[in-house]
Amino acid sequence: MSIDATREPVIQAIDLEHTYDNGFQALRGIDLTIYKGDYVGLIGQNGSGKTTMIKHFNGLLRPTKGKILINGADATTLTVGKIAKQVGFVFQNPDHQIFCPSVREELAFGPKNCGMSPGEMKDAVEDALESFRITEFAEHPPAILGFGLRRKVSLAAVYSCRPTVFIMDEPTVGLDHRSARELLDIIGELNGNGDTIILITHDMRVICENTKRGIVLRNGKLILDGTTREVMSNIEVLRQTQIRPPQVIELSKELSAPDVAEFPLNVDEFINEFIKTKKAM
Ligand SMILES: Nc1ncnc2c1ncn2[C@@H]1O[C@H](COP(=O)(O)OP(=O)(O)O)[C@@H](O)[C@H]1O
Ligand SMILES: [Mg+2]
Repeated sequence: MSIDATREPVIQAIDLEHTYDNGFQALRGIDLTIYKGDYVGLIGQNGSGKTTMIKHFNGLLRPTKGKILINGADATTLTVGKIAKQVGFVFQNPDHQIFCPSVREELAFGPKNCGMSPGEMKDAVEDALESFRITEFAEHPPAILGFGLRRKVSLAAVYSCRPTVFIMDEPTVGLDHRSARELLDIIGELNGNGDTIILITHDMRVICENTKRGIVLRNGKLILDGTTREVMSNIEVLRQTQIRPPQVIELSKELSAPDVAEFPLNVDEFINEFIKTKKAM
């Protein structure tokens, strides 16, 4: 995607490369701008470089060539702590992040450490409890909660720091359908309120039903970047990366006229389209 001057960039990768100490080049020539309010699905098979790229966004890795700008500032000039205030990252396993005696303290831990005043901290914690629908568990020890709730706590604990960008690595893995749906609804609401979201997932249905923009990595290179619909319409390119779009896309592409750009992206859209066509007949 070319740079959109009308929108506010929050993370920019400029000719980003990363070569690990053992000489393996995991990222090559990545040019990418994430804008405020984006809801990005980051896609690519295992080993394509997703985690390596994300670690540059939160300062855990530094570019071996090129640069990263975070809210306009060169990331090399910022400490990891400074970056963490702006870029919230939720690891795949929630238990890696949870360690406080109550949910409320867990959510207050980040805000306390990033220098919020007691008033701001209280508001941020209440807001995170409410947004993630866990207010009733505020005084519970996180360790006794079920997996789905612990996952919500780990997301809420990152969210309570009010990061500019919120990155989640496979947030729905291990959750049953209902809990996954609820979590995705919450994430959708955050994005609806203007938060910037980057979601890493192997689940193409999750991508098609939730994200607005798709970014595809293969062998450390950015091979597709566009609206989720544009990305998913590149079935051949996706296939080369072992990614198979949901079957509804193959079906709807098959049924749509070849020049139709707005083919249905998920089952809801497919059904709406079907009803519309039936009514027109
Ligand atoms: N610390 C490391 N040292 C050397 N190679 C690494 C290291 N971490 C990851 N890699 C390699 O970099 C490539 C990209 O890995 P990663 O970013 O974890 O991909 P993904 O998250 O898409 O699965 C893989 O080939 C992986 O083996
Ligand atoms: Mg990974």
